[in-house]
Amino acid sequence: MTSFKTIPLLAAMLLAIAGSSLDAEAKDEGKSVGKENMGSESAKPHFKPTGKPVSAARGEAIFMDHCALCHGIYGKGDGPRSAYFVPGGQYIPDMTVAQVLAGRDKELIENIREGLHRLPEPSYVMPQFKYILSDEEIRSVLAYVKTLPARAAKK
Ligand code: HEC
Repeated sequence: MTSFKTIPLLAAMLLAIAGSSLDAEAKDEGKSVGKENMGSESAKPHFKPTGKPVSAARGEAIFMDHCALCHGIYGKGDGPRSAYFVPGGQYIPDMTVAQVLAGRDKELIENIREGLHRLPEPSYVMPQFKYILSDEEIRSVLAYVKTLPARAAKK
């Protein structure tokens, strides 16, 4: 009688073994796909285009998420990170000054996309956002940034 009891147990063990080897195969497949993509020319940016219209209101939320850390919530260059700036050695624009931004849209979009490092380390550099923000998001955040001088004047 004991042999009848062990049959379901054996079956369960076999299933468990088969299951785990299937898992392992699935994982291996994942790995090889990853390796093929590494360093390949066709690697794609991680964001999806939003398809939304450019909007300064959306830009404000993007600014608070991605830019205020360094630039400060009003764009004066006094975000929380500024506590770590090299004393006297860090350049960061005061974006409440209209002349800093006026008439340079094309250049500013390019600089937000590609980042900037005019100063050597350990100064803070401007990170690139081309893999983080879509084209619409970059244009939206710039539209918001350009409202900063008027906002500062109102305060
Ligand atoms: C890690 C800190 C940091 C973050 C985050 C950051 N910036 Fe900057 N940004 C800088 C620094 C530093 C400079 C000045 C860099 C230089 O001139 O070399 C700068 C420069 C700029 C400029 C002026 C560029 C020019 O051509 O004069 C603009 C516009 C700007 N940032 C917008 C943004 C926007 C928009 C975001 C968010 C999407 C952002 N930054 C996020 C640090 C940062």
